[in-house]
Amino acid sequence: MKPIKVGLLGLGVVGGGTWKVLTANAEEIARRAGRRIEVAAAAVRDLDKARHLVGDEVRLTRDGMDVVRDPEIDIVAELIGGDTVAREWVLEAIRQGKHVVTANKALLAKHGNEIFAEAHRRGVMVAFEAAVAGGIPIIKAMREGLTANRIQWLAGIINGTTNFILSEMRARGLSFGEALADAQRLGYAEADPTFDIEGVDAAHKLTLLASLAFGIPVQFDKAHVEGISGLAQEDIAHAERLGYRIKLLGITKRRPEGIELRVHPTLIPAERLLANVEGAMNAVVVCGDMVGATLYYGQGAGALPTASAVVADLVDVTRLQAADPEHRVPHLAFQPESMADTPI
Ligand code: NDP
Ligand code: HSE
Repeated sequence: MKPIKVGLLGLGVVGGGTWKVLTANAEEIARRAGRRIEVAAAAVRDLDKARHLVGDEVRLTRDGMDVVRDPEIDIVAELIGGDTVAREWVLEAIRQGKHVVTANKALLAKHGNEIFAEAHRRGVMVAFEAAVAGGIPIIKAMREGLTANRIQWLAGIINGTTNFILSEMRARGLSFGEALADAQRLGYAEADPTFDIEGVDAAHKLTLLASLAFGIPVQFDKAHVEGISGLAQEDIAHAERLGYRIKLLGITKRRPEGIELRVHPTLIPAERLLANVEGAMNAVVVCGDMVGATLYYGQGAGALPTASAVVADLVDVTRLQAADPEHRVPHLAFQPESMADTPI
């Protein structure tokens, strides 16, 4: 069978990782997807940057429109970030009838309603496993594994950079700035790290999880958001002396008056599971009315863990695109016809 052709928008930490995973595990991936998945072209900002890519030649361009309008390309993977060109290119890819895979939670938290509605109209899929909790398959767990449940609440560490900073400050006595610089060097932080340290990135992800959990539109502007930039070494040491750890948690709950959506530093008793999630690891607890509490744990950021989630979506979309749109397991976070505002 003819290979599926992918166009990458971005070849940075996640785009480069996606290339590596597709190359290193090509045979397994082809077996699982039912076809080979090959990168046909990639859009980058700097054509002269050394890429250290091994394997087949890939066509590089500065203009993402060249990629999304290329008739040879079946799936577009948006791994650029931000919400300017990323939004334009994703919407154009959808209008061209291409399926989209994205790791961009900022884009979906801000423009998800528009993007999902357009995808629904055009009968294409928008998959976003990598946008939440890096390598943890939390979207698939919620979309498929917990589908028999009414979700009651969800709480988790969903930003690797801040968890890494808090862990390094506690365990190694690093200053906030030193720990942030390490997180940036390791490729965990956003292009604008204030998104990480001020809780915005966690709120982007929480918004998507709440949309999936409760079937509501994406409503980032309703979230209460507080980050970790106000925390000092002595706050962390003081919490430790009292038998607690400080973690940046994202919490969403179904309440009689509406859906609660909040991100803030939280004191957690040191013996609890979430208190012991260290480094760039993420962990999410999801409570369903039938299953009770379930826990998902793994690498929340970084090239290969995130690429693992991107490639899982590429495989998923490759398999599902052969099915009648009516019979696909939807990637949509909500039903576009029920876009009424939900009180929070
Ligand atoms: P990087 O900055 O490492 O990579 C961005 C890529 O996009 C680069 O290849 C860059 O080109 C390219 N690019 C940027 N702007 C343009 C433009 N205007 N035109 C063409 N190409 C452009 O980012 P990441 O890989 O870290 O992040 C990508 C996405 O993945 C973001 O949405 C991020 O939130 C998300 N994400 C990141 C994770 C991580 O651990 N890093 C984890 C989960 C999600 P060039 O290489 O030439 O600079
Ligand atoms: N900057 C993000 C984090 C990347 O640190 O969690 C993963 O989404």
